[in-house]
Amino acid sequence: MNDTPTPDWDPRSQEVQSDQRVAYDHMRETCPVAFSDYMHWSLFRHGDVMRAVQDHETFSNVVSQRLTVPNGMDPPEHTAWRPIVEKYFTQSRVDAFEPTCREIAVDLIDAQRGKVELMGALAHPFAVRVQCAFLGWPEDLAQALRDWVARNHQATLARDHAAMTRIAGEFQTLIRDTIAARVAAGATPETDVAVALTHETVHGRPLNEDELTSILRNWTVGEIGSIAASVGIIAEYLAANPQVQDRLRADPALAEAAADEILRLHGPLVTNRRVTTCPVEIGGRTLESGARVTVNWVAANRDPRVFDDPDAFRLDRNPEDNLLYGAGIHVCPGAALARMELRVVLEELLARTSSITCDPDRPARKAVYPASGFHEVHVLMR
Ligand code: HEM
Repeated sequence: MNDTPTPDWDPRSQEVQSDQRVAYDHMRETCPVAFSDYMHWSLFRHGDVMRAVQDHETFSNVVSQRLTVPNGMDPPEHTAWRPIVEKYFTQSRVDAFEPTCREIAVDLIDAQRGKVELMGALAHPFAVRVQCAFLGWPEDLAQALRDWVARNHQATLARDHAAMTRIAGEFQTLIRDTIAARVAAGATPETDVAVALTHETVHGRPLNEDELTSILRNWTVGEIGSIAASVGIIAEYLAANPQVQDRLRADPALAEAAADEILRLHGPLVTNRRVTTCPVEIGGRTLESGARVTVNWVAANRDPRVFDDPDAFRLDRNPEDNLLYGAGIHVCPGAALARMELRVVLEELLARTSSITCDPDRPARKAVYPASGFHEVHVLMR
């Protein structure tokens, strides 16, 4: 075993947390493979992140003892589980869900005029209501899910393992009680995604409760945190860039590509983890076998080596380069669902207002890691 390297940076410092994007851009340019006590090895450049996510034999996803289906798995286990997850996000399921998603967006947007704080009024409620609707769950679960995600974020930031275990247990209880109540109320696999999952099989046997909970936890963390952050980032970007707003109002067909590009400029998901299975040379550094690695999506997606004029909003970039939904075997299976949800919010935000501007009296407040985007976005909606 080598000695622990001297830290190159502190991801939880005030300087980094006050503006994550600026800090990660700086790291990418000055120390692209950096060690910290908190994250161990961080990869900031697009090329290094691509290498890690595409070489899953060297950069394993089995980063902890905890069962994480399918994100914490490598082949062949990942290969057995991935189709079970994928079939819930087919284009036909996403299309069938679009009208419900639009109703939720319209309901929330129509309720807001004048001075609005959009994270509380739109981003968070949209993310949890859509998640409940997708799972076929009643909306009164939305607050419980939202509280759970907030507590989980707190514990993750603090690396409080006891709290993380307790919070994971609470989620399992919430899922168990919800599914039992749904079945008692007559829910079927056709009406209720969570009930449908209880009928899935893997390796010729039914899923056990830990596996079921893990799948739903992955969807819940993935969906609620990233979708809420994305809605806030998109809304803030529109408010701060009236020319982009005008262009999209004139041509709403650009909405989906615009959302992808706005979220390339400002990534809603900061990191994912890997662990090396052998010694690795990367970015001029030597990582030992078993080294913990984080890929930094925010920095990679703003890398000038790949994105010419990376701060510019451009719709003519190569979509393949955008790492918003990842790459390799763990690429986001919920991408079609997420894209539809964000397109619908963007379309309705523009269609149901004549202008959205930043509130000059109240600047947006940025979110801190592990969240991205904004804590508060104050706008004037007309
Ligand atoms: C804007 C919203 C979203 C973003 C930016 C996002 C991004 C990502 C990224 C970058 C990965 C790859 C992680 C890695 O390589 O370790 C991923 C994986 C995953 N995402 Fe998403 N995601 C979003 C929404 C969703 C939604 C809506 C769902 C499902 C409800 C979802 C479920 C998953 C799952 C299950 C995985 C793990 C896949 C695997 O390991 O094979 N995500 N996501």
